[in-house]
Amino acid sequence: MVREGIALVDRDEDGVDRAFRADVLAGLAQPQKAVPARWFYDEQGSELFEQITDLPEYYPTRAETEILDERGEELSALIGQGRAVVEFGSGSSTKTPLLLQAIAPAAYVPLDISGDFLRASAADLACKFPGLPVHPLEADFMKPVELPQAVAGVPKLGFFPGSTIGNMVARTAIDLLRSMRQTLGSDAMLLIGMDLIKDVAVLEAAYDDAQGVTAEFNFNLIHRINRELGGTVPLEAFRHEARWNDIHARIEMHLVAREPVSFTVSDQRFTMDAGESIHTENSHKFDLRSSFLLLLAGGWTPRQRWTDRAGRFSLILAEASTPRTAP
Ligand code: AVJ
Repeated sequence: MVREGIALVDRDEDGVDRAFRADVLAGLAQPQKAVPARWFYDEQGSELFEQITDLPEYYPTRAETEILDERGEELSALIGQGRAVVEFGSGSSTKTPLLLQAIAPAAYVPLDISGDFLRASAADLACKFPGLPVHPLEADFMKPVELPQAVAGVPKLGFFPGSTIGNMVARTAIDLLRSMRQTLGSDAMLLIGMDLIKDVAVLEAAYDDAQGVTAEFNFNLIHRINRELGGTVPLEAFRHEARWNDIHARIEMHLVAREPVSFTVSDQRFTMDAGESIHTENSHKFDLRSSFLLLLAGGWTPRQRWTDRAGRFSLILAEASTPRTAP
């Protein structure tokens, strides 16, 4: 059932995700080819990302888990009980339980674009918290979403862990934060993870691990294009690259052509020179001020901020800002 205001995945008569095709065709037509990072996360991509979180080089998940694990009492005191937790991108099995345990919420609403992964993690959560109402919602959370009737009137806590906000350039991140505020209401709070600027070698290793799992994650996008959009992109002609962009304070992932290459996607032909790349992901990093400024610009006032003991990652609790006349 498609209710007005709910952003469900829109598929054509062949089951092709229309937005995926449109993004890929538009992105490959640009001088710097680029595909939005959200398209990594089909079931396979979501599983590969879970593997990334266990890699020795990939610190963000462990760092954020450490914060949630150690700050339960503070979180509970600041958030209070009885909020409905709305998670943007349905969570892994480790972080969400730590939050739900700490704050005793009224309900849990995981939102995700990948329906299969969503249902699996919702079922897992419902099992771990037998008394907790769980309302999974298959949706593109980049747009305002109509939440289930069951949580209408319940104050919300938005949960956006993992530094996924870092995947977006500033103006898109701000659009998302504002849209979250609209989805969650003017009495909402937001708990958001933001990865921190640090030594470039540490950052690059986190996105180009020795085992090659991140490379595989990057290549999964090509698999998806070939499988779902009838693409002929030759995998062997590309290599994975992670590079620090200091102007934008971000790690970029690229699929770099090793040689001149030509392929089709949905019957459209594309050619690339050796060394040209498809830009597949940005992962922006923050410091205290840049993270606060981003939240403020998106309509959220920071209330508390924690980092892990090694100071690699930050978790920020914010409140929906009250619009008022400012001097
Ligand atoms: C899930 C967006 C937080 O940017 O660190 C991990 C995705 N990409 N390794 C990140 C990712 C490559 C991850 N986020």
